[in-house]
Amino acid sequence: MRKPIIAGNWKMYKTLSEAVDFVQAVKSSIPAADRVDSVICAPALFLPSLVKEAEGSNLAIGAQTMHYENEGAFTGEISPSQLEDIDVQYVILGHSERRQYDNETDEKVNKKVHAAFAHNLIPIICVGETLEEREASNTVVKVSSQVGAALKGLSIEQIAQTVIAYEPIWAIGTGKTATAHDANEVCKEIRHTVEKIAGDVAAELIRIQYGGSVKPENVVELLLKEHIDGALVGGASLKPDSYLKLLEAGANAK
Ligand code: 13P
Repeated sequence: MRKPIIAGNWKMYKTLSEAVDFVQAVKSSIPAADRVDSVICAPALFLPSLVKEAEGSNLAIGAQTMHYENEGAFTGEISPSQLEDIDVQYVILGHSERRQYDNETDEKVNKKVHAAFAHNLIPIICVGETLEEREASNTVVKVSSQVGAALKGLSIEQIAQTVIAYEPIWAIGTGKTATAHDANEVCKEIRHTVEKIAGDVAAELIRIQYGGSVKPENVVELLLKEHIDGALVGGASLKPDSYLKLLEAGANAK
């Protein structure tokens, strides 16, 4: 049985005081940790404060990106060891916005995934197709190749702990969600790809989220599907009441 994982991706929203207020507002209402993993991935600037604020609660804090090197002349970057040092637990890697605007290639994503595991960070690896790729029936080819590239060289145990977020690019921030049926079909193909790479045990254990215009109104239907183990949520994770509703759906899902 896979434990659902609901992660908010705040992208470049909120000020520090708004972020701290949010954590103060939700932290005593986070569902039990054995029912759902509850995560907020915040701008790097807020991470130390949010980790402190969430301490002792069931809320885990994640980053939205990182470099793959531990240190060096990489102006503006943050490193895996820096995240580990402040007790960040998750990191989003290969988000389509970073693939599009920051040249985050499959090869870099793979290096970052290895670096994450070397520093006790659970990677949330994003994959997904463009509208053109979907219309040309290339969704499975695209997504499978991104998954294969990201997982290259990992052990079976590491693959089993990885989180993959299937986020069709055309569904992000557009209000268009893949139907639960279509999202589940792609997540099933992702699981099948993992099975080919790492065997059936890892494929059974790996958690696959759906992301793209998820909100309290549509999350239950998505989570009911066999291969959807959680959600990666942008806009609807920014308000405490909406975020808590998503967590409640996760806690009641399986
Ligand atoms: P929205 O939920 O705002 O569509 O964003 C999805 C996303 O990109 C999460 O990583």
